[in-house]
Amino acid sequence: MEKYLIVANWKMNPKAAKEALALFEAVKEGTKSAKNVEAVICPPFVWLPKLKAGGRVKLGAQNCHWEMQGAYTGEVSALMLADLGAKYVIVGHSERRQYLGENDELIGFKIKAVLKAELKPILCVGEKEGEEINLVIEEQLTRDLSGLSVNQMKQIVIAYEPIWAISTSDGLGACSPDSALSAALFIRRILTKLYSRFLADKIPILYGGSVNAQNAADYVFKAQVDGFLVGGASLEAEEFIKIVKNIGET
Ligand code: PGA
Repeated sequence: MEKYLIVANWKMNPKAAKEALALFEAVKEGTKSAKNVEAVICPPFVWLPKLKAGGRVKLGAQNCHWEMQGAYTGEVSALMLADLGAKYVIVGHSERRQYLGENDELIGFKIKAVLKAELKPILCVGEKEGEEINLVIEEQLTRDLSGLSVNQMKQIVIAYEPIWAISTSDGLGACSPDSALSAALFIRRILTKLYSRFLADKIPILYGGSVNAQNAADYVFKAQVDGFLVGGASLEAEEFIKIVKNIGET
């Protein structure tokens, strides 16, 4: 891939607009000189209008509805996100699958809505502790990407996030680079089966799950991923800046 893609998933953080702005501006400033990387910050919807992309930093969102507008109380559409300057939308994060009941059919609809709004979907796939990884990944990819054309697929980013490796304290529970490598290779194999080798090689595959400034380089070298989806470590400006700068320089 031309550039590493480092995506910050702020989840439901921080608590106040002032903190969100301070964190965003610190990352924007701190990553200005970073090379070969694109950073995307996905804050809660409500902070989006306050944040202005610039430097190496683009904006993204953590979710959207599958329709563009209408009677869907409490929801936000991809079109609205595009209007606020978002370029990416995370779809199918395991926390939404787990706590909000999102299934593959719904996730497929959301991916199509994101594409319709001319944004890039970041599709999260990954197994729970004890699940058969290949079975889960093949099923999720096949169902979530069903019906997409080759041109639509060119806009997709896949994030491999083993659920058991998310939010473990100090990164110690992160997946080993070897396991992340076999997952990434398997994802490319499934994409080849569903589309073609040519296309599969062009789709960025990110790793997510307890990534921090210490372990990030290992994933790039040993797991050959094209970037990261970073949760906890993206809430610390210094830590996230280090991830972005160090990866760009590897
Ligand atoms: P984590 O979260 O980096 O805190 O493990 C990653 C994610 O859930 O996207």
